[in-house]
Order: sequence, then structure tokens, then C-alpha cells
Amino acid sequence: MTHDFDMVIFGGLGDLSLRKLLPALYRSEVAGHLPRNGRIFLISRALGEREEELTRIQEWLTNQLKSGESPTSHWPEFEQRLHLCAFDVTEDGEGWADLEQPLLEVDAAEGKRDRVFYLAMPPSLYGTICEQLSGRGLINETSRVVLEKPLGYDRTTANEINAQVAKYFPENSIFRIDHYLGKETVQNLLALRFANIMFEPLWNGNYIDHVQISLSEEVGLEGRTAFYDQAGAMRDMIQNHLLQLLCLVAMEPPHKLQADNIRTEKLKVLQALRPLQGYEVQSHTVRGQYVDGMMHGKAVPGYLDELGKDSQTETFVAIKAHIDNWRWSGVPFYFRTGKRLRQRCAEIVIQFKSLTHNVFDGASTQLSANRLVIRLQPDEGIEMTVMAKELNQLDMRLQEVPLNLNFAETFQNIHSDSYQRLLLNVIDNDLSLFAHRDEADLAWAWVDPIINAWNKCGTPVQAYEAGSWGPDASAALLHSDKRAWHNNG
Ligand code: BG6
Repeated sequence: MTHDFDMVIFGGLGDLSLRKLLPALYRSEVAGHLPRNGRIFLISRALGEREEELTRIQEWLTNQLKSGESPTSHWPEFEQRLHLCAFDVTEDGEGWADLEQPLLEVDAAEGKRDRVFYLAMPPSLYGTICEQLSGRGLINETSRVVLEKPLGYDRTTANEINAQVAKYFPENSIFRIDHYLGKETVQNLLALRFANIMFEPLWNGNYIDHVQISLSEEVGLEGRTAFYDQAGAMRDMIQNHLLQLLCLVAMEPPHKLQADNIRTEKLKVLQALRPLQGYEVQSHTVRGQYVDGMMHGKAVPGYLDELGKDSQTETFVAIKAHIDNWRWSGVPFYFRTGKRLRQRCAEIVIQFKSLTHNVFDGASTQLSANRLVIRLQPDEGIEMTVMAKELNQLDMRLQEVPLNLNFAETFQNIHSDSYQRLLLNVIDNDLSLFAHRDEADLAWAWVDPIINAWNKCGTPVQAYEAGSWGPDASAALLHSDKRAWHNNG
């Protein structure tokens, strides 16, 4: 990092900032990635005394950092960067001056400084904040804006929000955060595909039987009742994280690994994603909601108990999808995400086809098809199952064995903080791990009709026990195709 910057976080002492952004920035401080004079402005409607708030931030850091990371080692430098400003962004009051003054002063003293505005607030406020920033002359040609999900509730509202922000920032200054894209293994997926000779020739419907993308969580509502009950798993996970992963798995090799090229290829995947409508929505999707159950030997309440009222919001979704293009013709993509599932696990499974001819004779020489598992979390890694001869057997017996690349073991000091990576990309003005407005739009265009069909047909949510792998219908979705989910436990 060479040049100075100012980062302004609206919602600076909110949940996201305390849990993710400040720990990520602190880690960057420790790693020496922040420029010497970089400042961080935390905007909040109400603030206590500075010392009080700093203690609160440090407490959060202590909770969020992993063992081996010290919340005190670089605190003095970090603390100096923090500027706390208390004002209500919806009011045109004097409070804005606390932000305006230091930003404009530095502009006057050293010329235009890079500036990042992070909107960690409800999207309904994005327009107001951008208008204020613009009216006060705080947006310069190097300014960037970071938008957090959820970016809208459906295609229409997402377009409205994007249009409001677009009045003040050009598209190449808008960073739509999808923290899944900052995960180490997601970037390793690109390395796997495009830095090795052996995968890309097989990466198509001639050799691949099907693909699974599973994002399973153990957590429940985590107190986010109002937000989650409005959103549900489809809007919360599929529209963004899961479809972004799909794009990276399915896209054509970009000409160069640069933002414009990657985004162009991702868009083509979304354009080719076959829409699900009417009857197909019933046969190709499963909606579920967890009821009470046992997790790791402990009883956990059901969704409705956590929520405290009746609701038809889905906490689980499984979908069978297709991409209608040359490469993926005939290859089903199975998606699955849910809360309170048996294990926290995010993975992409590439299931190759069976060999068409078996040269080995006998029952002990059944050939299993190769499988590539790209594990995003926990235990980031890539595992390929191959057939090999059983050792110490005189006759030719075959067995499936894993070729395992465990990143934590292979690369010491792996830091898998996706916010840290993405914030540094924002500061570096690198858009390659951020979604373009058109991607978000096409993702909504695919998701909306499914939600509408569920609502129109009154598709009920199917109960699944907390601690299970989701409703029976999810397993049946694959069984009817003579396939099964890749479950680890
Ligand atoms: C967020 C969702 O985007 O991702 C949450 O809003 C979800 O509901 C979270 O729990 C999962 O992220 P991770 O990195 O913990 O898998």
C-alpha cells in the first residue's frame, strides 16, 4: 500500500462494523497493509465519550480475533486512525461538519486523497447518504463506495437502489460486497481451473456428470429475526453467494484475470441459467424450515420458536438448475443452503462421469467415478477422489482414495478473513472480486420468478429437524435422478 486513503464507515459502530470490518482493518494494520496516514472515520447516530467507545471496539476485537492474534499489539497505531463522528445521516444537521471538515482539509493540503465510503447501513438510506456526500463536495474522482447486501428485496427494489447510487458514483467506483468471493478457496478455484492443465479440458458436460454447491450452516437466526424473516434463504444466500460461486465454477476462462473480463464471463453464465417457472418450480425446488432438534448433543429450538410468531419463511432451499450453453448442456447443477443443518460446510462438488469401460474384472474392481471437492469452509482445501489398488492384496482390488490438498496444513499462517481481503481490494481499487450491477440484476431476474411461484402456489415450507441435512424432499430431489448429496457426516 503506497498512497494514503480515508475510509468512512456509515454504521461505524453497528454490528457489521464491530464484527467484521474493524477486525479486518485491524488485521490489515497488523500485517502492515494500511498506509501510514490512512484514516478511518466511524459514523454513528449516537456515541458516548471517545474513550468509552474505543474500549468497546477493543473488546469486540478481543472477541473476534482468533487465538494467536493480539488485540493490543498494534492498538496504539490503529486507535490513532479512528475518528468518531456522531450524527444522523438522515438529518441535514451540523454533525456532517465533523466529517466534512477533516476530509476537505486534507484535500486542500495534499490534493485529492483516495476516499472509500462504506455503507454498512440499510439500503433504504443509500440514496440519502450519497446525496449528502455529493452535495457537500465529498465525492471526488478517486472516491469509491462499498455497498453491503442485502441489495434490495427483489429485482425492482434492487434496481431502484442501484439507480440511486449510480446518480453519484460511476459503476467502476461501486464495490458490491459478497464476502464469499473473498474466501481463500474461492480464489483458489480460479487457480485450480486456470493455472493447471488437467482440469479445464475435462471441465464440461462430456466429462462432468453433475455439480453440487452446498452452503450449510449450523447457526440459526442469531437474533436477526426481523431481517431474516423478510428475506429467507433464497434472498439471503442463493441470490448472491451461491449464484456468484456458480458463476466462477461455470464461466469460460476470462481473457485476463481482471475485473471487466471476469464480470463479462460471469454475466454470460447468468444469462444462460435456465429460468424456472410454473410447474418446474415445484419439481425443481425444495423449501424447508427447521423445527426443534438436537445439535451436538444439545436441544435447539425451531425457527418459529426463535422468531416468536408464525411464518412461512424458508430457512432451507434446494434447487436443481441447468445452464443452457455448449459447455454445460445436460449437466444438472444442484444448489443447497440452509440454517441449523448438521454441519457447517461450504463446498463445491464436481462429480465426474463414470468410465465407459472397465478393464478390471470381478466384484472388487467396481469403479467409482472421480470426484473433486472444493471446500470453502471449514478446513479449506481441495480433495480429489481417485481409484487406486488396495495395498497388500495379491489380487487386483480397487478402492477410492483421496488426493488431498489441505490449505491450512500446506500453507502456514493462512488467514481466511474475507473482509480483510475485500477491504484491501477496495482500497487498491480492484473490482475483480465484486459483482457488477448487471450480475445482481440477472441474479434477481432468476430468483424472483421462483419466489413468486412459491407465493402464488402457496408452496408450503417443509419441516426439517435442526441437526439434520434438511427436508426429505431435498434428498429425494437427487434420488429421483439416481444421485445423492455429498454429506460429510
Ligand atoms: C450472510 C448471511 O451473508 O452470510 C447470513 O446474511 C449467513 O445469514 C452468512 O449466516 C454466512 O457467511 P459465512 O461466511 O459464515 O458462511
